[in-house]
Amino acid sequence: MPLELAPKVYWVGAIDWTIRDFHGYLTEDGSTYNAYLIVDDHITLIDTVKKEFVPEMLARVAEIVDPAKIDYIVSNHVEMDHSGGLPEVIKRVKPEKLFCSPMGKAGLLRHYQEDWPFIEVKTGSELSTGRYNLAFLETPMLHWPDSMMTYLKEEQILFSSDAFGAHLASSEHFDDGLPAFPMNYPRQLKKYYANILMPFGALITQLFAKIAQLGLTFKIIAPDHGLIYRRNIDWVLEVYQKWAAGAVEPKGLVIYDTMWRSTELLAEAFTQGLTDAGVEAQMHHLRRTHPSDIVTEVLEAGLLLFGSPTLNNQMFPTMGEFLTYLKGLAPKNKAAAAFGSFGWSGQAVGLITKELEAMKLKVVHEGFKVKYIPDAGELAAARALGEKLAREHLGG
Ligand code: FEO
Repeated sequence: MPLELAPKVYWVGAIDWTIRDFHGYLTEDGSTYNAYLIVDDHITLIDTVKKEFVPEMLARVAEIVDPAKIDYIVSNHVEMDHSGGLPEVIKRVKPEKLFCSPMGKAGLLRHYQEDWPFIEVKTGSELSTGRYNLAFLETPMLHWPDSMMTYLKEEQILFSSDAFGAHLASSEHFDDGLPAFPMNYPRQLKKYYANILMPFGALITQLFAKIAQLGLTFKIIAPDHGLIYRRNIDWVLEVYQKWAAGAVEPKGLVIYDTMWRSTELLAEAFTQGLTDAGVEAQMHHLRRTHPSDIVTEVLEAGLLLFGSPTLNNQMFPTMGEFLTYLKGLAPKNKAAAAFGSFGWSGQAVGLITKELEAMKLKVVHEGFKVKYIPDAGELAAARALGEKLAREHLGG
């Protein structure tokens, strides 16, 4: 039974139930690649799916209309989870026109080197499919330079590409059951924002201003991943505005790795200190919690404490990897400090602190170092410091 969003507007995407690694991001609940079909005088497909899911998508289209009858394709985003199916679909469908942003055309040419019937569109460009009219909205860096959104004016549907998406495979496609169902959706929405869109908060804030300026209102927001919103539109817009503004909670994270448990003992003491201050505390071992899950927690945390032993004059490799990932995500509005145990040279704490400064986090302590194994006094000092930092920087 085809899934209809509005009269003659259908979901024709694919469900990736078993994916667990999306370019390094842990997708423990799978994903969806949403594509949409508008059956009008000019039959229009909005986005495709990952290459290997083309048969699934075309089978869904075929339940509605012969795929060969598709006239137009809109490509909102070049990344291959949405454009990977284009070569096969275009070969089968032979569309009259392929609409994308100017950067989209450049990106698609670099990916596929095909002489497709490109039509470049910009913010303000419109397309009539017959009784429906589509307006395009360029949204560079949400999530790539080419990204754009498509707005179906008569039904007030925003096809929002990656924005407002979440990696979740689900037999449910609408948001009607939120927040209780599907399980995990609000967390998956946050995880997606944290790992994909966190660097672009300022651009998201600008997008909201643009939406207000254009006077756009939404009855449906239809992203390219996860659920389609029709009941919880205000909710998803509000959480995006909050995250885009960099709002943080009274929450501290202790992120660490350890060799012979000395740094872990300190991590436990710092975590206890945060708890003493009455704030939400979490402790994450870098080889036990996936980096994409730690980053999900970083999004709303106001204090980050990083612990690493010194190994061969360096920070522990997992810490280097995590800090590299985090730096790219440009976290904002966070106090931070480093700690760790060492045997003879003890460079790790200083090296981490430099990275925190390079990320423009607010470094709130010069670093807490302990030689070999922390004694009772040092553990008490770590606990007291954790409490002090939480009270000073999280209002605990
Ligand atoms: Fe879902 Fe940026 O691709």
